[in-house]
Amino acid sequence: MTIKDQIKSILEKAASKIFKCSEPINIQYPVDILHGDYASNIAMKLGKTMQKNPREIAEQIVKNIPKNTIIEKVEIAGPGFINFFISEKTLKSEMAKVLKEKAKYGKCNEGKKKTVIVEYSSPNIAKPLGVHHLLSTIIGQTLNNILGYVGYKTISINHIGDWGTQFGKLIYAYKKWGKKEVLEKAPIAEMLKLYVKFHDEAEKDPTLEDLGRKEFKDFEEGDKENRKLWEWFVKESLKDINKTYKKLSGIKFDFTLGESFYEDKMSELLEEGKKKKIFVEGDEGSYIAQFDDENMSPMVIQKKDGATLYSTRDMATLKYRIGRWHPEKILYVVDMAQNMYFKQLFQTAKRFPWYKDEGFHVSFGRMRMEDMQMSTRKGNIILLDQVLEEAIKRAKKIIEQKSPKLKNKDKVAGIVGVGAVKYNILSQNRSTDIVFDWNKMLSLEGNSAPYMQYTYARARSILRKAKSAKKDGKTTENKTEIAEKTSHILRAIPKFEEQLIHAARDYKPNLLSQYLYELAQKFNSFYNSVPVLTAKDPKDRLFRLKVTQSVSQILQNGLALLGVAVVEEM
Ligand code: ARG
Repeated sequence: MTIKDQIKSILEKAASKIFKCSEPINIQYPVDILHGDYASNIAMKLGKTMQKNPREIAEQIVKNIPKNTIIEKVEIAGPGFINFFISEKTLKSEMAKVLKEKAKYGKCNEGKKKTVIVEYSSPNIAKPLGVHHLLSTIIGQTLNNILGYVGYKTISINHIGDWGTQFGKLIYAYKKWGKKEVLEKAPIAEMLKLYVKFHDEAEKDPTLEDLGRKEFKDFEEGDKENRKLWEWFVKESLKDINKTYKKLSGIKFDFTLGESFYEDKMSELLEEGKKKKIFVEGDEGSYIAQFDDENMSPMVIQKKDGATLYSTRDMATLKYRIGRWHPEKILYVVDMAQNMYFKQLFQTAKRFPWYKDEGFHVSFGRMRMEDMQMSTRKGNIILLDQVLEEAIKRAKKIIEQKSPKLKNKDKVAGIVGVGAVKYNILSQNRSTDIVFDWNKMLSLEGNSAPYMQYTYARARSILRKAKSAKKDGKTTENKTEIAEKTSHILRAIPKFEEQLIHAARDYKPNLLSQYLYELAQKFNSFYNSVPVLTAKDPKDRLFRLKVTQSVSQILQNGLALLGVAVVEEM
């Protein structure tokens, strides 16, 4: 149990002795550390419902809090806040836990081993990765990491777009203009070229559209040659896509099950929906799902010619996932352009008996580029290779300036550059636009990967030096300041797990990033005014080294969840 949960339970017990407390108890972090480590406004809430003075209620509650080792002191403040100060003993034993559990520190049982499916990345075959696919890949992988860490059984799925009429066009274009060797050399680039060619030619000669459609129809009806071609397109595309994942590092899926996997699972779904009148006839024999909400347009589930759609495959996917894994939740990490679509999808699913509200759209905003053309003419296609290359180049420049003597400069630049791109995305609130800003991203100050990595390396370097450095310090020590800076870190440690849980509940990696950033700031401020290696008293020295080690451990654990690697020196 986290300290926050323990405070909550102590408070609940104390309050229930006097009041029938139906209000949920909220525990917050006071903005000002002088107001304690945790605070609750329960007395004010009760005061309102009971028409009583909240301060009196607070006093009664506080009287009923039994003596315990966790809490050092309880204060009533302002209109009736109850503020809790955690005992030094508790804080120190939490630090000991970090040193003992090391890379496992922060793991917990919030998820109670319940299954959560996390679907992310899901690019479309034969097309370059879009910016939104990159965001989905990074955010989704991190959520998968965090959920697993706090005790869920996660299943990660890449729902690739490997089905649809566009493949007919590609087949046509390849048969007419394509070359095997060229395609195998640079699969996605060549397929994109073939697409563009198809569209250019179709503008001059519209009959091409029909020819493309026919190729897809033949394919669906079992044409051997076309099926072979399609399989080959998928295979070659995945080679390219996997290269991208490799460059990003740390991207892993338990399953890659594309839309085509559901090819034979759609007719049953369609039948069930039609029988239950969930799918009703629309225009000219198409089938649709309709909604009471007038702001929601109907969702087409089958076209007038009987063909299936993206939505048909998604409904079949939903049913399949629920039947196979019985998940508590299914997260769809997809950009907000599909907000309405997922609303339609889940509302439709609600009418089926097998659906229990498992679906959740983890939506994210658009990437806004601050200072660089990161997109091609199409506006939406990311040249990820270029972006990563540029990030690494810029990281190398900074390293050359800051630490010209460093060994492995290229390796460090790779880790810093890739880390910077990922961290930049993960440190921002996903529900708003995500700003891509080179300067901010690679800055050694502020909430950036290099700042975090630098803080980690700094802590590690202190720990390395501790083995050889002289032990008798001569510095004069400012006792009050040292106590204050140390206390700030000790008080921050238990919040790692608490904020991880918070991030897991809200599906927001930036909550973890924000916590780590604040911890790093506290550590840098500690290090600037507290002599560690040169501490006067050897006991103090040892303790401060432990503080340093705990911070470096938490930074490492937290950054690993964000997919950001650390370096020992930079
Ligand atoms: N392939 C889709 C696209 O690129 C994203 C798939 C999202 N997942 C889903 N189950 N619909 O837009």
